[in-house]
Amino acid sequence: MSTSPTTTLTLRRPDDMHLHVRDGEAMRAVLPFTAARFARALIMPNLRPPVTSAAQALEYRRRILQALPAGAHFEPLMTLYLTDRTDPAEADRARAGGGILGFKLYPAGATTHSDAGVTDIRRLDAVLSRMEETGLVLQVHGEVTDPDVDIFEREARFIDAVLAPLAARFPRLRIVFEHITTRAAVDFVLSAREGIAATVTPQHLLMNRNALFAGGLRPHHYCLPVLKSEADREALLEAVAGGNPRLFLGTDSAPHGRAAKEAACGCAGIFSAHGALELYAEGFEAIGRLERLEAFASEHGAAFYGLPRNSGRIRLIKRPWEVPASYPYGAERLLPLRSGEHIAWQVAEEPPSAGTGAGSTDMASP
Ligand code: DOR
Ligand code: ZN
Repeated sequence: MSTSPTTTLTLRRPDDMHLHVRDGEAMRAVLPFTAARFARALIMPNLRPPVTSAAQALEYRRRILQALPAGAHFEPLMTLYLTDRTDPAEADRARAGGGILGFKLYPAGATTHSDAGVTDIRRLDAVLSRMEETGLVLQVHGEVTDPDVDIFEREARFIDAVLAPLAARFPRLRIVFEHITTRAAVDFVLSAREGIAATVTPQHLLMNRNALFAGGLRPHHYCLPVLKSEADREALLEAVAGGNPRLFLGTDSAPHGRAAKEAACGCAGIFSAHGALELYAEGFEAIGRLERLEAFASEHGAAFYGLPRNSGRIRLIKRPWEVPASYPYGAERLLPLRSGEHIAWQVAEEPPSAGTGAGSTDMASP
């Protein structure tokens, strides 16, 4: 085995199975970053007003396609926002709509634009039954919202109070536990019944809660679920590096303009689309498992959702680059993760030639 450092990594084009692209000018500012890296992304429905019907989702999908840069090959995958009043027939309409993969459960008040979310999951039995029947997937923001529960405990509490009972009551419902952040969540997902998976963000693999207070209050490291302890981060990194097919890439890249972040009551959300795949490469490299990145990024999510694997390739090069301090965001500025700092990997300018249809992780040395 060569002892020289890996400098390039060629992957099947990946999917981002959890992404916020917003709408209008904001969308036009952030979408090119994702389209340059990912073949598909599951687009979150927490617009204002939220995307609650199949008709709205298809309309939103059309706006996303229109906002793509010329020549981009990118497919938006859609999910609908569940409310207390979601009509069970919406599941059938979603199934018929094409390109709609499921429904997103935001517990009311759990996070950004979740005020129209679900106040009590037990009111949704009829919808969940239709989802189970039709094979639609439930994507879950897994935190209890009780303000008396410690913010670092809200995910673990959700597993016991909501998710485990839900998975048992609907034994064929397919569920993605989104952006997991704790050892408790890893343990739950890896030992759960069939049909349960989870997404993992770059920030939860690379940072612990100290990053919220490094040298002062750091609003651009604030997201929900909030960063957790170092032990939790290590558990997540070990789990994804272990190659379990239940774990896959979902950035939760969530842009907010600078003023909304740097405020007395700042918004939750970390923008990572400008360097998403590159940041995951840092995580997998840190744990000595770069060869496992491809399956996590490009295979496990597609397999869970029953989608074909992407055929294109993307090449990463180990060459540190300085992230701009900010990017334009409509009339505002957007501060990306690592603003003014470095990311160790970068996407090669030109995609490699198509090559064979099979996935390959090329770990060439200079
Ligand atoms: O940090 C977050 N930002 N977490 C979420 O669940 C929502 C997201 C957003 O939309 O800004
Ligand atoms: Zn999200």
